[in-house]
Amino acid sequence: MGRTILLDKVNVPGIRNFGVYRANGGYKSVDKGLLEMSPAQVQQEVIKSGLRGRGGAGFPTGLKWSFLDRKSDRPRYLVCNADESEPGTFKDRFLMERLPHLLIEGLIISSYALGVKTCYIYIRGEFKYLVGIMESAIREAKQNKYLGEKILGTDFSLEIYVHPGAGAYICGEETALLESLEGKRGNPRIKPPFPAYKGLYDCPTVVNNVETLATVATIIEMGGEAYSKIGIGKSTGTKLISACGNINRPGVYEIELGLAVEDFIYSDEYCGGIRNGRMLKAVIPGGSSVPILPADLILNTAKGEQRLISYESLAEGEFESGSMLGSGGFIVFDEDQCIVRNTWNLTRFYRHESCGQCSPCREGTGWMEKILYRLENGQGRMSDIDLLVRVAKNIEGNTICPLGDAAAWPVASAIRHFRGEFEAHLK
Ligand SMILES: Cc1cc2nc3c(=O)[nH]c(=O)nc-3n(C[C@H](O)[C@H](O)[C@H](O)COP(=O)(O)O)c2cc1C
Ligand code: SF4
Repeated sequence: MGRTILLDKVNVPGIRNFGVYRANGGYKSVDKGLLEMSPAQVQQEVIKSGLRGRGGAGFPTGLKWSFLDRKSDRPRYLVCNADESEPGTFKDRFLMERLPHLLIEGLIISSYALGVKTCYIYIRGEFKYLVGIMESAIREAKQNKYLGEKILGTDFSLEIYVHPGAGAYICGEETALLESLEGKRGNPRIKPPFPAYKGLYDCPTVVNNVETLATVATIIEMGGEAYSKIGIGKSTGTKLISACGNINRPGVYEIELGLAVEDFIYSDEYCGGIRNGRMLKAVIPGGSSVPILPADLILNTAKGEQRLISYESLAEGEFESGSMLGSGGFIVFDEDQCIVRNTWNLTRFYRHESCGQCSPCREGTGWMEKILYRLENGQGRMSDIDLLVRVAKNIEGNTICPLGDAAAWPVASAIRHFRGEFEAHLK
């Protein structure tokens, strides 16, 4: 069995309730942090752990926290990003549904480190059932003096509010999320200024992913140094991977970073191999926004090294022959899947979700969808494949937020690795 930290207690009956969670060692990080450590010491442990944000970009969490404007006399906010609308990614939903108190614990200890008194959980609109679960966990924590005024008799007070979105993928982008939380249309902001200086209501704000914040609780409990020894190189710790597609055992798995992709796909502990004895064709390893890799390049890098699930190994070869760990949404395709049809399907999603502020993204996603539709439906032209590559290139890097890149990369990588399949559609 691989090392687990976050999901250790996930199968304990009743673990969603405060009493059971507490009896199984829950809230220890809050006891330790608030009663024995200063906020700066908590932050130092997070820096030591090497934790990187689990929302997609992999930015070091401790470093992000150190950017927070602490000189401002305005209130500071911590916002938990629970929007999780990326196709193929469903690990935060799992975490909140099964272990709501682990997230609350992470929010309390992180807020203590950041000097935050008000914290929001921005939750995807479609996850209505989770709003009740999280609110009930907040109520229980409050009844047991872990939230509210003077937590555990200290001077630290905290309130957590759950805010459901209205079901827009773009509201997962941190500045669009803040706009939405303020009651406005969820359009991404131009950066700078960054949220660390001007975030929610123009106040210093940290936005972190659900898994990131839950992990902070485990780091404080075990110590940053011990955490940093798990994983591989700069990819420390464990990561939740949501696996789906043509595999025998789809689901959410906690892996130690550095696990070989091959072991993840074929071992019975994880995906259990390709369904119906088919061959592996390709994998999108980090949620729909990252480049797709064909079987040979997902199992081994272009240098012939075994490909591992880590930030570095999945990116090896950059965009020519690599991809990204992203949010850990692992989508597996077997030999029967049509890459053109799947790329069209994803592009349809991005066209629908583009907020429309920048023309390369607004127009480009629509053009790509139209071209892919005609290719998939036998009406393609010889020039269409190169046209798609040009449109994708013109979106990339030319937009306010990374949704433009997220729409361009799947198309560009599908053509790079499966050009023959696109050409076959023309014939
Ligand atoms: C279009 C788009 C959607 C995103 N959706 C999410 C999301 O659902 N959850 C998330 O944590 N981060 C999402 N992100 C990344 C956030 O902008 C931000 O980087 C993240 O919440 C930071 O948390 P972390 O440092 O803990 O990873 C998205 C980014 C983009 C561009
Ligand atoms: S890249 Fe797309 S989603 Fe992002 S701000 Fe521009 S138009 Fe909106």
